[in-house]
Amino acid sequence: MATQFLILSLLIFCNTITFTTAKDTNTGFVGSLDPKTLGLKKTHSFSHFRFYFHERFDGSDPTSVFVIPPLPKYNSTTSFGTVGIMDNALTVGPERTSKVVGRIEGIAAATSQSEFNLLVVLTFVLTEGNYNGSTITVLGRNRLSQKIREIPVIGGTGVFRFATGYAETNTIFIDPKTRSTIEYNIYVSHY
Ligand SMILES: *[C@@H]1O[C@H](CO)[C@@H](O)[C@H](O)[C@H]1NC(C)=O
Ligand SMILES: *[C@@H]1O[C@H](CO)[C@@H](O)[C@H](O)[C@H]1NC(C)=O
Repeated sequence: MATQFLILSLLIFCNTITFTTAKDTNTGFVGSLDPKTLGLKKTHSFSHFRFYFHERFDGSDPTSVFVIPPLPKYNSTTSFGTVGIMDNALTVGPERTSKVVGRIEGIAAATSQSEFNLLVVLTFVLTEGNYNGSTITVLGRNRLSQKIREIPVIGGTGVFRFATGYAETNTIFIDPKTRSTIEYNIYVSHY
């Protein structure tokens, strides 16, 4: 009984120590944390994911929609002010019929007055195997005048907690009136 109490006290004591070793201990709201308590491995993994997504702009069931159309008072080649929302299937191959492994949900806004650039906020929601339920978030400037555009990976959830990295995207096919197929290569460091 006494031994059990001692062990319990020690455990509590150790936890307290762990939580109070941060430099700024007098704030009451911050403490250091052993990554193991979050189930994190010591080393990072580096992974390369390649996905394709498929937009439909027309028909009764579009998957990418304008919520704010281009504003006529601004230069129409930049589409400045336009905002769109998407929820598209993510596939392993560039064909629409290829295996679906997740969704891409996001917002894109035309944020440049001098060229056609998008600020994109995209969440890759994976549904396959180990990755089922985990997400990767990509946020940044998508400069459409370039063939390959680089956009930062700003984080993730599930197996992608603490993720960092970058994505490279390129347009495989686009007809602005009907459909598009876009490729994403995501290089990500995660636990
Ligand atoms: C619109 O912007 C493009 C690219 O900056 C420029 O070449 C063009 O002259 C502009 N057009 C107008 C009407 O300002
Ligand atoms: C992914 O997880 C959901 C909910 O937990 C489950 O319904 C679905 O069958 C899973 N998909 C795969 C491919 O394992």
